[in-house]
Amino acid sequence: MADMSWAPLRLGSWPTPVEPMPRLGAAIGLGPDDLWIKRDDLTGLGAGGNKVRKLEYLCGQAAALGATALITSGAAQSNHARITAAAAARMGVKCTLVLWGSAPSAMEGNHLLDVLAGAELVWAGDEPMDAVISRTSDQLREQGEAPFVVPYGGSSPDSARGYIDCATELLDQLPGFDRVVVAVGSGGTMAGLVAGLGPERVVGVDTGAVADAGATVTGLLAAMPGAPSGELRILGEYVGEGYSTIGPATRAALETTARTEGIFLDPIYTGRAMAGLLGQVESGAIAAGTKTVFLHTGGLPGLLARTDVLSL
Ligand SMILES: Cc1ncc(COP(=O)(O)O)c(C=O)c1O
Repeated sequence: MADMSWAPLRLGSWPTPVEPMPRLGAAIGLGPDDLWIKRDDLTGLGAGGNKVRKLEYLCGQAAALGATALITSGAAQSNHARITAAAAARMGVKCTLVLWGSAPSAMEGNHLLDVLAGAELVWAGDEPMDAVISRTSDQLREQGEAPFVVPYGGSSPDSARGYIDCATELLDQLPGFDRVVVAVGSGGTMAGLVAGLGPERVVGVDTGAVADAGATVTGLLAAMPGAPSGELRILGEYVGEGYSTIGPATRAALETTARTEGIFLDPIYTGRAMAGLLGQVESGAIAAGTKTVFLHTGGLPGLLARTDVLSL
């Protein structure tokens, strides 16, 4: 995108709130001023979530190129796909979502919202996703459209700048905080935070969305001008038995957060990230007196499609 002039499109509501979590903090042995939540579940567009910040940059690029359609890919319950469908609606362009596997029997959660926002769904079956995306782009071009392919998870070195913006907000809202804990999927959210805050303050929790979370975040950072280097902190143990599975630590994190603070997390991303935060407190890696921010990146529609979430 080096030769093209473009600016991000405003799609969300900024700044998102920062709130204390005193009851959860007390339940896990932290002080009343130690635990905070950055509400990027409340970014506004399309039921909110972290993808809005990244899509502001990607949609800015798409608009500058004269795109008439957005294409992206993901799982049936992809939050990124849902927010891309909403962004396309806001831009007044078409949206095609290439989704893994075949159509589930019930249309629920994100899948339901994709259809409501007018997206066309293409189920990839057993075919490689790249092949289906490229065929879908060709078909749209044959129909006279100008498609723009939004990368997997909405992560690119340009779109990760949305999380440098978030880092700037956070420094303004809670000066002197020590740690921010975040789920890592396609990596752009963590890469932007590390670019804005340095690697020491950011703890990523791998969700298993990509084969090597550390290499993915490092690769994004390497392509972001001026991004700091240094060892990344990424917790790998919460992948458990795989991306779409819900392990006991995640289940416990969902319940504890809902029952102490009235905040709902999702089972794939934010539940895992909170499990990571609770694990860090349990092990003493995060102690009382450490001002810790949990980044809530959204995902509630995905929770509503998982009736297996309760351990009761
Ligand atoms: C709710 C939620 N949180 C976190 C993430 C991870 O963000 P990233 O893909 O930038 O690593 C995703 C990605 O899909 C998500 O949907």
